Amino acid sequence: ALPRDLEGRRVVVSAGGTAEPLDPVRTLGNRSSGRQGYALARVAAQRGAHVTLVAGSTADLAPPAAVDLVRVRTTEEMRTAVLDAGKGAEVVVMAAAVADFRPLDVAGFKIKKTDAEPEAIRLTRNPDILRELVAEQVPGRLVVGFAAETGDAEHDVLSFGRAKLARKGCDLLVVNAVGAGGDGRHSAFEGSDNEGWLLGADGSSTPLPMGSKAALAARVWDAVGARLS
Ligand code: C5P
Repeated sequence: ALPRDLEGRRVVVSAGGTAEPLDPVRTLGNRSSGRQGYALARVAAQRGAHVTLVAGSTADLAPPAAVDLVRVRTTEEMRTAVLDAGKGAEVVVMAAAVADFRPLDVAGFKIKKTDAEPEAIRLTRNPDILRELVAEQVPGRLVVGFAAETGDAEHDVLSFGRAKLARKGCDLLVVNAVGAGGDGRHSAFEGSDNEGWLLGADGSSTPLPMGSKAALAARVWDAVGARLS
């Protein structure tokens, strides 16, 4: 039987990618499938938590049973939904692939193809939701970040992760060792398996062996559960 160590805990999980409009019909987005975030939400609900799943663009996934699903598109929408649901939560896990930049100007009408050279798209920085969560300094609330890193040397991936944990200020960071498949197809994004390390702000580092995204989710919740007061 599954542990019920998250019984009654309120948790928020973000999943999938954000997509930023360029005009009414086009967006800039990414290939996140949302599978890892969905697995985290499903496992937390199975272990007794009240889960709000804030989902951006995803593959065609069945929503986990017994979670509150909030669908968002842009980073700004995800920010509002996560900060809002995060107010009453004891744990927030940012598994979403949030777009770092968005187009500075959003055309009100579909951008037309002409014989002239296309204009360059100017970008502006998006808010960093994870850092905003950490900056809120809610006492007792755990904030978990994700980092997808490429790099064959284990050492590099871990030191990138350690630096990111310090920069973001979160309590735990899941470092995803995504394969360097240039077309993205052989990476952890779209597959059903995942591996990496779980780094703690206390300096701890736990390997997350290759396995299903549900298995990785279970290990993340084990670590979170052990840290909840
Ligand atoms: O900075 P980087 O994108 O590598 O960090 C990844 C972590 O930060 C993930 O947990 C992601 O959900 C979160 N993030 C965020 N807002 C952003 C960019 C990333 O919350 N604008």
